[in-house]
Amino acid sequence: MPAHIAIIMDGNGRWAKEKGEDRLFGHLHGVESVRDIVEGCAELGIRYLTLYAFSTENWERPQYEVTGLMELLVDTIRKEVPTLNKNNIRLHMIGDMEMLPDAARNELNHALAETSANTGLNLIMALSYSSRWEIIDAIKKIAQEVKDGTLQPADINQETMQLKLSTAAFPDPELMIRTSGEYRMSNFLLYQLAYSELYFTQTRWPDFRKENLYEAILDFQSRERRFGKTGEQVTETGDNP
Ligand code: IPE
Ligand code: IPE
Ligand code: MG
Repeated sequence: MPAHIAIIMDGNGRWAKEKGEDRLFGHLHGVESVRDIVEGCAELGIRYLTLYAFSTENWERPQYEVTGLMELLVDTIRKEVPTLNKNNIRLHMIGDMEMLPDAARNELNHALAETSANTGLNLIMALSYSSRWEIIDAIKKIAQEVKDGTLQPADINQETMQLKLSTAAFPDPELMIRTSGEYRMSNFLLYQLAYSELYFTQTRWPDFRKENLYEAILDFQSRERRFGKTGEQVTETGDNP
């Protein structure tokens, strides 16, 4: 069972258009999928679930969609806090929170605080997130420490970098799922997904349910993760690190 699953929740707009509806109708239905998948992960005992909800680039969408999406996201998170607490789910956020409207940021901080004592599933929402933004932000922090003399360039290693990322507290995802038939990363966890297994499905996000999640996990479990070694090395030692 993967400890950490990351999902690019894509296809809401097309799902709605195919039904002759507005794109926001798709986002609204996407929330149902979020509920179902969060519940599914909690039931399976998955430790970390990262959901890509809004990218830095998504700020460039038409104003009405951005506003509608922000309202939906903040409203949903606010309403779901009691359920999160009931199910012992802890909420986390990664992304450039500075770009969020003040009211939204306050709401989210509130939800983070209210779920902070929960010890079950860690639900990480990537909001106003982009991987390049995150990597550059990490480099700035490292550069500052070097400038301050608390870090030597020769001592910079993978751990230094990992600790400066917004995902510092989480292990790398073993499985990354993208819905709706697009085969790209769209600036999502580029550093952290270095050795993740990638799973792509045609299913649009609003149609994605627990059964689809189980299929993805079964597919993941059939893979041989080699991490650069040979297949023989991996099978001989029996470990699949
Ligand atoms: C994913 O669905 C949700 C967000 C990016 C916020 P889209 O809105 O990208 O839907 P498509 O890809 O246009 O169908
Ligand atoms: C990626 O989806 C971002 C989220 C799912 C939040 P997009 O729909 O924005 O990605 P592109 O534009 O198709 O690459
Ligand atoms: Mg899309």
